[in-house]
Amino acid sequence: MLKTAIIGCGRIAQKKHSEAIIRNSNIIENIAVCDLLRERALEFADKMEKADLKKPEIYEDYKQLLKRKDIDAVVIATESGNHYEITMEALNNNKHVLVEKPMALSTKHMNEMIEVAENKDLKLGVCFQNRFNPPIQELRKKIESNAFGRILHGQASIRWNRNRDYYKQAQWRGTWKYDGGTLMNQCTHDIDLLLWNMGSEIDEIYGVIRNFTHPYIQAEDFGGAIIKFKNGSVGIIEGSATIYPKNLEETLSIFGEKGTVVIGGLAVNKIKHWRFEGEDAHPYQNLPDPDTVYGNGHVPLYRDFYNAILENNQPYINGQEGKKAVEAVFGIYKSAKEGLPVKFPIDFSTLEMEN
Ligand SMILES: NC(=O)c1ccc[n+]([C@@H]2O[C@H](COP(=O)([O-])OP(=O)(O)OC[C@H]3O[C@@H](n4cnc5c(N)ncnc54)[C@H](O)[C@@H]3O)[C@@H](O)[C@H]2O)c1
Repeated sequence: MLKTAIIGCGRIAQKKHSEAIIRNSNIIENIAVCDLLRERALEFADKMEKADLKKPEIYEDYKQLLKRKDIDAVVIATESGNHYEITMEALNNNKHVLVEKPMALSTKHMNEMIEVAENKDLKLGVCFQNRFNPPIQELRKKIESNAFGRILHGQASIRWNRNRDYYKQAQWRGTWKYDGGTLMNQCTHDIDLLLWNMGSEIDEIYGVIRNFTHPYIQAEDFGGAIIKFKNGSVGIIEGSATIYPKNLEETLSIFGEKGTVVIGGLAVNKIKHWRFEGEDAHPYQNLPDPDTVYGNGHVPLYRDFYNAILENNQPYINGQEGKKAVEAVFGIYKSAKEGLPVKFPIDFSTLEMEN
């Protein structure tokens, strides 16, 4: 059994990490939970107990929790702006780390996390759970068997809605220091899928951001971008938290010389178009939408993280992979700030958007 602990018991932890722990209870035992707000840690622990699992020990100070020698790995689900600090402390206490997306909010921090994990021979995994969505896995098989031929262009469209209540629930949301805007928070999943499947490095990015309808947050509620990839292909990003009156869709489109795939639904969970020679449909065209936009990927993601530790492999989404979508969003921010296209690689932090 892998012995884990969870740090940060807010919205995503209560909804999805609890489910992942319960459904992987044959391989994972979550022995401790921590939140600055004790009642949240208790609520999480109660969920474990109700599922007939041993009640984890409650902590309010994650540094105390990290002193425990019997914890193999920690899961970090606090606000994005403190992922770096908590990850570093965990790695320095010899814990493997599974961190929520975005893994950190500066290039330097992400590089340091990756480097320290590597040097200490510890696993660093990132929660881009949509990579495990069944339609995305189907697409992946086509990418890996070169069924598209040359990939020409692709698009990530995130047309969602986040209202005042969502931002009021937690003060950190929409701030440059702890979050970023909709591109960094909601859209990094689809941006990750776009970059992963386009399969080429970013050469240059041109981005525009706006705050259309959320004057009470610092960062953007809309972002658009054009990416020129090194191999000549082109990516388009459209990310919005302003769609009237509620979440509409999250779609990934990949267009190649010999293939077309569009995966949509509420959260890239349903094949919309599937065209290859001799194939013009796919059974996953009729999959139901998940209960939330977070989908069901945390369960296989935990299993993969467990296997990576057990077999001493890299997690499916390791630090290097987790970094790419964040860097793309940095590129959009920098470009929007300067009003110019930005050449990669870049060194950036969301704090640069504060002035
Ligand atoms: N993978 C996904 O689909 C997905 C979905 C939603 C959120 N997220 C990410 O998960 C993270 C958390 O988001 P959320 O919406 O659950 O936030 P939240 O505000 O609901 O929860 C964060 C929790 O962390 C706790 N916390 C903060 N600092 C702490 C510390 N030092 N020690 C212990 N606890 C601490 C807070 O008290 C709070 O309960 C963010 O990085 C977000 O981007 C990922």
